[in-house]
Amino acid sequence: MSSHPARVHAVLFDAYGTLFDVYSVSMLGEQLFPGQGERLAVLWRDKQIEYTRLCSMSGPQPGQHYRPFWEITRSALRHAAARLKLELTAEREERLMNQYHHLSAFPENREVLQALRARGVRAGVLSNGDPSMLAVAVRSAGLQDLLDPVISVHETRRFKTDPAAYALGPQALGLPAREILFVSSNAWDAVGATWYGYTTLWVNRASMPPEELGAQPTRTAANLRAVLDFFPS
Ligand code: LAC
Repeated sequence: MSSHPARVHAVLFDAYGTLFDVYSVSMLGEQLFPGQGERLAVLWRDKQIEYTRLCSMSGPQPGQHYRPFWEITRSALRHAAARLKLELTAEREERLMNQYHHLSAFPENREVLQALRARGVRAGVLSNGDPSMLAVAVRSAGLQDLLDPVISVHETRRFKTDPAAYALGPQALGLPAREILFVSSNAWDAVGATWYGYTTLWVNRASMPPEELGAQPTRTAANLRAVLDFFPS
């Protein structure tokens, strides 16, 4: 833990994996494909993130291969199912995608967001998700009154960790990146945001080893409550 983080004035949360539990789809996966639910969820997620990078970075024209995160999520599901040799009927695909629309939120989210609100701290989202997908996720978790702004990378046609995507946070909040606390459970996202210049919290829910790239998030914690340590009441 760094002892002197910059003074921060607002928080931006990553959405998928940080506010919403992407592996919660493994339960439905298990129901549809007994014994394979967890593997499907992990492969699906890994492929989804790989596709964001492929689509974001490839050319020849910048942004040419961009497609919304919802479409990428569906493509990744198809690939993951094929890789595991699962029979993904149209009906099963719809059920899994629908589940992705209504992911479980982590249990501590609400109290943390309410405490931030009570301390007068603005808290929003900066996500790879496209705007309609994010709106449904935030609403179905009942967090719509506690998150503002909800920023999607969509308009940039770039996904995190592209600097154009991270730049949306300072633009929307009118603060330099170092005065914004960026919170992610994805180690790669915490590294990307740290490199971009944000003050960062890596919420290492799954006790994963850190990325071995020499970049340290400002702090690391096991759940979202550690956000409040940046904003003493
Ligand atoms: C997001 C993905 C990366 O919400 O989790 O941006």
